[in-house]
Amino acid sequence: MPDSKDQFRIILVNVHGLLKGSGLEIGRDADNGGQTKYVFEFADHLSKRLEIKHVHIFTRLIDDKALSSEYAAPLEVLNPKLDIRRIPFGGKKYKLKEQLWDHLDEFVNHAIKHIKEHKIYPDWIHSHYGDAGYVAVDLSKILNVPFTHTGHSLGIHKRNKLIGQGMSEQEAEKKFKFSKRIAAEEATLMVSQFIITSTEQEIASYEEYRNFSSAQYHVIPPGIDTTKFFPYYQEKIDETLIEPEELQRKYWVGEYIEKFLTNPRKPVIMALSRPDRRKNLHTLIDVYGQDQELQSLANLLIFAGIRKDINKMPESEKEVLTNILLLMDKYDLYGKLAIPKKHDVENEVDTIYRYCAEKRGAFVNLTLYENFGLTTLEAGASGLPVVITQNGGPSEIIPICQNGILVDPMNPLEIKTALVEILTDEDQWKQFSNNGIINVQKNFSWESHVERYLQLVNENIGLLEQDKTEHRKLHSSHLRGELKRMLVADIDGTLILPEKQNPGLEELINSLKQRKKGTVFAVASGRHSDLVQDAIKKYQFPQPDIIISSVGSEIFYRCPDLLEDKAWANFLRKHWKRKAIVKQLENISWLRPQEEGAQKEFKISYYYEEKDYSEDELRQSLSKNWHQINAIKSHGTFLDILPKKASKGHALIFLCHKWAIPIDQVVAAGDSGNDLDMFRGSVKGIIVGNYSEELKSLKPKNNIYIAKQEAAAGILEGLAHYGFKF
Ligand code: GLC
Ligand code: MG
Repeated sequence: MPDSKDQFRIILVNVHGLLKGSGLEIGRDADNGGQTKYVFEFADHLSKRLEIKHVHIFTRLIDDKALSSEYAAPLEVLNPKLDIRRIPFGGKKYKLKEQLWDHLDEFVNHAIKHIKEHKIYPDWIHSHYGDAGYVAVDLSKILNVPFTHTGHSLGIHKRNKLIGQGMSEQEAEKKFKFSKRIAAEEATLMVSQFIITSTEQEIASYEEYRNFSSAQYHVIPPGIDTTKFFPYYQEKIDETLIEPEELQRKYWVGEYIEKFLTNPRKPVIMALSRPDRRKNLHTLIDVYGQDQELQSLANLLIFAGIRKDINKMPESEKEVLTNILLLMDKYDLYGKLAIPKKHDVENEVDTIYRYCAEKRGAFVNLTLYENFGLTTLEAGASGLPVVITQNGGPSEIIPICQNGILVDPMNPLEIKTALVEILTDEDQWKQFSNNGIINVQKNFSWESHVERYLQLVNENIGLLEQDKTEHRKLHSSHLRGELKRMLVADIDGTLILPEKQNPGLEELINSLKQRKKGTVFAVASGRHSDLVQDAIKKYQFPQPDIIISSVGSEIFYRCPDLLEDKAWANFLRKHWKRKAIVKQLENISWLRPQEEGAQKEFKISYYYEEKDYSEDELRQSLSKNWHQINAIKSHGTFLDILPKKASKGHALIFLCHKWAIPIDQVVAAGDSGNDLDMFRGSVKGIIVGNYSEELKSLKPKNNIYIAKQEAAAGILEGLAHYGFKF
């Protein structure tokens, strides 16, 4: 068991609210669905781990007569290591997500005040949805702690969808504040440690964002509660497990299904979804209705939401439900098709899966595109084999769980063949059933989700801890005491122009030599550390306190010998497959490896010519590894392939977190592509006058100053512009 100093405190930010211990209001409106449930269950499972000191959920305080008064309590303790902290902002009344965008700065202010007052400084922050991303970007900067982010859904896609459905851009903007949301999502990609997605395909859904490639992505599929979705045979084996309520549920579930059926003892083919046309329930009824063999093998059971009076339902749902009834009539499925009017979503779904598994049935989901497919897991854990759409998440789940068959949801023959196979081949049924139970538990339970999550958090937090020997050595260096500000400069083209006079260099060197206590001087170069040393000697720079070399893939401290930051190296090593990448890039004709000396453990360097460059070809060759690397072009001739988090910019942010240097007190100067990602967030950027092509897209703004003069003179110009006294 880790001792208490190895434990950490995590703040989960879920701005919108409606989280409470006495039960969630899932389905209350569009803002209270999967995300709310996910955050709540995730927090609960996280808090049970030994590594965790405390989990705090930060959400909105809502004091609204129309809602439970529980939402107005500033603090709700859920267990000794888990609580909800409700932060008031944007008035008291309940509001939809899109009405909160204008008030988020207030949330940040009050959250900081709360953290200070209660002394609950987090080691890690995790934001959920774009609004929380906005908050986390600020909290992370102010508190100097790293954060991770889960998107849940993305602004760009929602905007495109609405515009595709005929909404005007102005109306969409007015109603949903997309420009704020998308800007927040962009900032989140830029400054978060990593982004969590449920699938590989979800990573691709971020591609339309400008900052797509600045972020690191890790797939951690959501977990399901395997104590709720347990195997169908469990109750048979241990009858003491059956609580009276569960017995009642079982009885009534059977009763409301079987009243539709002539022969209720047959296996059932089961589908369960909202009455939404894209869920494609009609195709399933067509397949079943047109096939005598299927009809003799099994009954069909469809749960399509709760209905009282179809006529009073929203138009789109009404259409789907009416169509189901018409199809039942068309194929004369009376006595074979059950369409229960209601079921209790929270409490009965698991019982329904077990009922169907006991009947040796199959679960079908023919959705045209399924983002993730939690139902695949719920059916799997219950021991019910699945026939499921190949489009989206299930195509990543089935190869792992092996609990059913993927089908093209528009191909009736494929669907039928899969169903017949499962219903007639007993061995196959057993295998799918057993696989689902075992593999879901192993790979998709909350336990496995939290395990993987904490591994990643540990990698990042571990990175910030000081090595003891390191610390002792540094005691004699400039890095002791409080660090108030930092100047980071690239060398070639920024501090110096090798073939030129270098006006301003002497003045800059002199001021650096006399820098105040608390000012850190760092260089960040594409050169490896020996070549950095050469430049320092040749131009007689003062010794930098920190050397970021090989394009951010190495960090050294001066004390007075060079001491490597091993935590950084260990961190970069985690997801880096150097050999495989070299091999994958071997056959790209327009890449020419640089000299042996330029190749380092975390840097594979090539020459290329701009006219030949093809990102598509790189992506194709690297396939999945594409998301684990950083490809940086400089001066239209150098291409560096580095681990995703190895860049001058990432190294900079890491150093700020590690040494508690306020990020907005950092000035970074550069001239080419490998400097680009230092100019992020609140870092004050100086682009020297002689900048290269890759920086052309940068426009002067708050934290971007484009100097008129070249190199050192340009740096001085920028420092004066910011009034940066060092
Ligand atoms: C330096 C390095 C080279 C790298 C280039 C761009 O010139 O020596 O290997 O490709 O910077 O980062
Ligand atoms: Mg340069």
